[in-house]
Amino acid sequence: MKQLRVPGPTPCPQEVLQAMGRQMINHRGPEFAKVLNNVTDKLKQLFQTKNDLFLLTGSGTGGLEAAVVNTMSPGDRVLSVSIGVFGERFAAIAKEFGAEVVPLNFEWGQAADPDAIRKALKSDPKIKTVLVTHNETSTGVTNDLAAISSVVKEAGKLLVVDAISSLGSIDLPVDKWQCDITVTGSQKGWMVPPGLAMVSVSQEGWQANQKARMPRFYWDFAKAKSYLEKGETPWTPAVSIFFALEVALDMILKEGLANVFARHARISKAARDGVKVLGLSPFAEAGHASNTVTSVAGSNGLDTKKMLKILREEHDVVLAGGQRTLDGKIFRIGHLGWVTDDDIKEVLSAIEKVLPQAGFRSS
Ligand SMILES: Cc1ncc(COP(=O)(O)O)c(C=O)c1O
Repeated sequence: MKQLRVPGPTPCPQEVLQAMGRQMINHRGPEFAKVLNNVTDKLKQLFQTKNDLFLLTGSGTGGLEAAVVNTMSPGDRVLSVSIGVFGERFAAIAKEFGAEVVPLNFEWGQAADPDAIRKALKSDPKIKTVLVTHNETSTGVTNDLAAISSVVKEAGKLLVVDAISSLGSIDLPVDKWQCDITVTGSQKGWMVPPGLAMVSVSQEGWQANQKARMPRFYWDFAKAKSYLEKGETPWTPAVSIFFALEVALDMILKEGLANVFARHARISKAARDGVKVLGLSPFAEAGHASNTVTSVAGSNGLDTKKMLKILREEHDVVLAGGQRTLDGKIFRIGHLGWVTDDDIKEVLSAIEKVLPQAGFRSS
């Protein structure tokens, strides 16, 4: 069986693919309203939130841009907590729209230190907002969001979270952890194709929204809210992905959220243990390794690019490489959404076969 194990897009179950084959419906009619309300209610359960929640047609980055432009004004001071490529992207969006970004960068492979965030907020009281990535897909590291949230909230700041590759797969109780804006994307743990960003907005998020002056049109939360009240989206939505999501959310709810989290935890441990048995080293800081993506250092002569090519061409196993400065230095195994213990066993056994061909010498 083909193993598509990049950290998104992820494979979709057959029932989900079939749902997308449905004929189109009027997106301004009662049939779509039913789908939209159903999906919104179920997503709220999975976000563990009573806050407003919107489905925006676009990729995760669109959701991040929406989070920025709906809560900030040009000139606002914003603390960007970054541990990798996607943390940097979040900061770049805020900067592009005129925020004064105060960077707090941690070494790639490490998690953010909540004490350093506390210090940064104390030393710069003008900071209004904190941007943080829950699960940094580029390095395979999960931040301690509960601890970060308590530091951010103790300082009375707005907490804006990129949870694109964690929500629905790793526990993130949005209301309990007081996340003001939380963003995820359909192609990650949700078992549906790319095309939707899902975003929750707290009361504090709305208060920020009232004052926010960054330009916005397509991504305007106020428009999304007023249309949702009549069972619509402001713009033509990705209708087929909504059909897919209805089916996928039922599958997730049937399995039970706690079981879904436990499955991701168990499979990620199997991936980490498995690469260690092969003589490889996990790249992520111990204790913060992600349950949705395992990053592995290219050690002992391993040519990671060659390995990925042989895996893809000869074993039908598709893994991801490193991004930016990690290009050629690490590889990543995605295990989120529709993934079983056997899938990871297959991936590990293919890696084992290919390692010697890709220059790896076990020590
Ligand atoms: C943590 C994180 N943030 C942002 C993104 C960007 O999402 P998209 O590629 O859907 O725009 C991704 C996608 O890989 C991600 O994993």
